[in-house]
Amino acid sequence: MNTIDRLTDLKGKKVLVRVDFNVPLKGSEVRDDNRVVQALPTIKKLLKEGARVVLMSHLGKIKWGKVDDEEIAKQKAKNNMEYVLPVLQKYLPDTKVTFSPETRGEELTAHINALNDGEILLVQNTRYEKGESKNDETLAADWAKNFDVFVMDAFGSAHRAHASTYGVPEILKAEGKQVALGYLMEKEVENLGACVKGDVHPYVAILGGFKVSDKIKVIDSLLRKCDKILIGGAMAFTFYKALGIGIGNSPCEDDQLDYARKCYSSGKILLPIDTVCADDLENPTKIATFDTDNDKHSAGIPDGLAGFDCGPKTVALYADVIRKAKLIFWNGPLGVFEKEEFKKGTVEVCKAITLNTEAFSVIGGGDSAAAAKEFGYAQLFSHVSTGGGASLEMIENDGHLPGIDVIG
Ligand code: 3PG
Repeated sequence: MNTIDRLTDLKGKKVLVRVDFNVPLKGSEVRDDNRVVQALPTIKKLLKEGARVVLMSHLGKIKWGKVDDEEIAKQKAKNNMEYVLPVLQKYLPDTKVTFSPETRGEELTAHINALNDGEILLVQNTRYEKGESKNDETLAADWAKNFDVFVMDAFGSAHRAHASTYGVPEILKAEGKQVALGYLMEKEVENLGACVKGDVHPYVAILGGFKVSDKIKVIDSLLRKCDKILIGGAMAFTFYKALGIGIGNSPCEDDQLDYARKCYSSGKILLPIDTVCADDLENPTKIATFDTDNDKHSAGIPDGLAGFDCGPKTVALYADVIRKAKLIFWNGPLGVFEKEEFKKGTVEVCKAITLNTEAFSVIGGGDSAAAAKEFGYAQLFSHVSTGGGASLEMIENDGHLPGIDVIG
C-alpha cells in the first residue's frame, strides 16, 4: 500500500491532506468529533516531520440546483468549516492552527504561503466551490498548484471522485509529486479488506436500513461472499411483500419485488420472523408484535399497523447465527433505534455481535456506528469504519474506490 510512511523529505513541504471533517453539527457545535480524532495520527506525523499542513474537507451538502444566492448563503452558513477549528485546536494545543475562509485563488494561496514549518491551515468547506463535486478541472488545478505533496485520509469521501479527493492527486501524481494514503485510510483499507476478501467463514452480514434499492449492489456482492445475510430495518418489508407476507402500512418498494424474490431464492437471506408494529411512529397508541415467518406462512402485519423493529424471536434467531460466525459485517440498524419503543432489535443484535469475541467484526459506518456508540458497544468491535457510503461501495467494488485507486 502506498502509505504516508513512504513519503520522504517532508520538511518545509506544503502538504495537502484531504480529511473527512464532515462531522455532525448542532448549530455551530460539533456533536461528534470522532472523524477529527481519527485524522490526528496522520496530521501529527506530518507536523513532526516539519511539513506545512493544509487540511481540506467538505462539510454537509450544498445544493447548487436552481436556487438563489440567498439560499446558497444560508446553506453555506449552516455548513461552515470554521465550526471545526476549535475542535482541531483542542486536540493540537501546541500547534498554530489558522483558518482560510477563502476556498480558491490568490487569497487561498496567500494563506498557504504564510504557513511556517509545523503549522496547520484549515480551509473552508470544499463544497463552497460549485466545481468540487463535479471534479472541475480548473478548480483542481487551482488547488493543486499550491502543493508539493498530497495525502488522502478522507475514507468517508473516498467513494467520491471530486476535485479534492481525485482531481488534485491526479494532477500532482502526473507532475511526479508524492501522493500517499494516510493512517486512517490504511486502517480502513486493511480492516474493511477482510470483509471485501471474505475468505473467513462462516461470514455473516447484517444489513438494515430503509431501502432495498440502496443496497442492491452490496447485496449482490455479499451474496457471492457471505454464508448468511441477516436482513433488518424497513427493507425487510419489500422481501415480505415479495413472499406474500402481509406488510400492513409498512413502506415497500414495489419495483424491487422481483429482485427481492431472486435474492431470497439464494437460500442465504434470513428475514425477521417477528416484527414489532405500531399504529404510529411518533405517537403510538397501539404496539404489538406479529409473526412474520415465511416458513410458517405467517399472515404478517395487519392493515393499520406498520413495522418498526424486529421482535424477540428474530433476535434469538439472529444471535444464534452471529454466535457461530468468524467474520461479521454490519451496516444499517434493524429498527427505529432512535425511539425507545423500537430500539431493542438493534441493541440486542449489536450486543450479540460483540459477545462473539472469536469473530472479526466490522461496522460499516453510518447509523449502525452511531447506534453502537450510543449503546456503549462500539469499542468492542474489531473495527468501526468512519465511512458509511464508502465502506458499502468498497465491498461492492471489490476494494476499489476512486480516492484509493488514484493514489495507486
Ligand atoms: C459521509 O459522511 O458519508 C461522507 O463524508 C460523504 O459525505 P457525502 O455523502 O455528502 O458525500
